Amino acid sequence: MEPQLESNLLNWNSRVSVHAKSRFYDVEGWLHNAPGPPPREVEALGDLAGKTLVHLQCHFGMDTLSWAIAGTNVTGLDFSIAAIDEANSLAERAGLSERASFVCANVYDALEALQRKRFDVVYVSLGSLCWLPDVATWGGIVADLLAPGGRLYLHDTHPFASCLDADGERVVYGYFEDPDDPQIFDSTSTYTDGEELSAIRTYEWNHSIDEIVAALLGHGLVLDSLTEHDWTAFQQFPWLEENGSGSFVVPEGRPRIPLSFTILAHAPS
Ligand SMILES: C[S@@+](CC[C@H](N)C(=O)[O-])C[C@H]1O[C@@H](n2cnc3c(N)ncnc32)[C@H](O)[C@@H]1O
Repeated sequence: MEPQLESNLLNWNSRVSVHAKSRFYDVEGWLHNAPGPPPREVEALGDLAGKTLVHLQCHFGMDTLSWAIAGTNVTGLDFSIAAIDEANSLAERAGLSERASFVCANVYDALEALQRKRFDVVYVSLGSLCWLPDVATWGGIVADLLAPGGRLYLHDTHPFASCLDADGERVVYGYFEDPDDPQIFDSTSTYTDGEELSAIRTYEWNHSIDEIVAALLGHGLVLDSLTEHDWTAFQQFPWLEENGSGSFVVPEGRPRIPLSFTILAHAPS
């Protein structure tokens, strides 16, 4: 693996135990309530009971297992062994192991790691594409993971928001992908509450909306919808306001900017 991805891997391994204990993820509450997928995902994907879904960059599997609760046969893939161990343990505790499996691999090795299996749905959730230097190659992997007629659900941070500094006040990073010019961060903190991280250096890459869409169309997928949202799921900037239902929005009086986006696409039948 490239040194920059190695560094990210160390950082992600160090985040897992912090996240699993955090109020942000609230694992005990999740186990108690056993929520299925959020309504907006069900609205987008419908009833997936009995279908197969692969979640790329699944972290410790909460989003993945929410679909298992809805009866979907889920596979999560992440390069962090700490995340995969935690995901397996969460599946066990939730009684979902029969419908859920987790694989430890780099996204770029997903086809081999998943033995070239094809899925009804490829699912990618918030905070994923910024960890990948090259979105065009990712688009080919998504296309090769989809069964004929299979669908992609991608919800991620909007690349415009990723151009802003930590205060969300100034454009300081490029909008377009440049594999040779990552954003480099040294931080002991993460987006959840909890203790300091032991591995602090990360490398992130922005990809424009155009580059993400081109990555999918260029590999034969059909775009069904692209929606830009004025909300996200974490306190990306200090001035974002929690709206009472778990989303963070731009307060009144500030220009509305896109904070996340959703793409739905499908493979030809
Ligand atoms: C922000 S998390 C995804 C979070 C997910 N939406 C959630 O809240 O559970 C990003 C995940 O990407 C994984 N990741 C980063 N780079 C990766 C790579 N090259 N291959 C596989 N997984 C990767 C990290 O280990 C981490 O679990």
